[in-house]
Amino acid sequence: MKTAFFDVKPYDIPSFEKYGNQHGITFKFYETKLDEDTVYLARECDGVCVFVNDTVDKAVIDRLCELGVGVIALRCSGYNNVDIEYARGKLTVVRVPAYSPYAVAEHAMALLLTSVRRVHKAYIRTRDFNFSLNGLTGFDLHGKTAGIVGTGKIGRVFADICKGFGMNVIGYDKFPAENSGIEYVSLDELYQRSDIISFHCPLTEETYHMISAESVERLKKGVVIINTSRGALIDAEALLEGIKSRKIGAACLDVYEEEADVFFNDFSGHIIDDDILARLISMPNVIVTSHQAFLTEEALNNIAETTVKNLTAFSKGEKSGNEL
Ligand code: NAI
Repeated sequence: MKTAFFDVKPYDIPSFEKYGNQHGITFKFYETKLDEDTVYLARECDGVCVFVNDTVDKAVIDRLCELGVGVIALRCSGYNNVDIEYARGKLTVVRVPAYSPYAVAEHAMALLLTSVRRVHKAYIRTRDFNFSLNGLTGFDLHGKTAGIVGTGKIGRVFADICKGFGMNVIGYDKFPAENSGIEYVSLDELYQRSDIISFHCPLTEETYHMISAESVERLKKGVVIINTSRGALIDAEALLEGIKSRKIGAACLDVYEEEADVFFNDFSGHIIDDDILARLISMPNVIVTSHQAFLTEEALNNIAETTVKNLTAFSKGEKSGNEL
């Protein structure tokens, strides 16, 4: 079975080659993202393997069908970049529903600790032999209220981590988990009570711009916002205004609304066109990582193993259980 692998990065290759070789799946690795212009690279392939910023819209799906591609294998859990409804009945779409909720939840906590204890500032200072502590005052997480929006696999691990720090945990979820030990409240109450808000729900029409100019008004002054889910949960302009007005105390972002053309690439020698991203990054209380939360050894292995399992099941005409 031959699969065109789009948006490949060096860290993807070892685990996919290892599991692919074990199960007779050959990957053709392409650095380019999948879109209408690059879809032709999937010719003579049975499947395509895509990631978070590949475009799988109606036009791409039509072209994949014309090329005889039968399966779209997402090597991630979120699938907001795929027109699932349009693909239904035309191609099989599979994903990796879980590969390491710990990877993402631990990264969310890493960002939070970095932010509230100013580790990012201290690191730069001491490298320059500047041992002054002025301006590095943080605050204790112990006793603070963490509001978790989306209490699925990742949100619940993050809740446990917060509890380990002695924080009070409240949650909002459209489908609250039973026996999670989380105190569920309305989104409004969560916005009003939380000292820290961490987003762990999928991007849908309902969750688009959950943080907007209007909702910023309802937040507790000084709140720390963490987003390791999908960028468009937050209206980046509203976030920026909230930071400028001092309503939002800090932001920890692993995802960004317009990340597709920027994240995962080295633009250190370029001038960034995105003024909102540039302004956010310039803020002392904003930390941005480029969709890195998933990136652990364990997660990469689990992603490759499940994707190969999904493709093998498709090639045998079987179901893997990860179909969308
Ligand atoms: P999950 O499916 O286990 O949990 C999602 C939770 O969100 C569920 O409890 C669901 O009921 C809830 N939810 C759905 N609609 C909602 C709404 N309108 N309002 C509030 N809650 C709602 O998913 P998991 O594995 O915990 O992943 C969460 C998100 O994290 C994914 O959708 C993905 O976008 C993101 N992610 C980011 C990664 C990164 O590297 N930054 C890596 C992996 C996932």
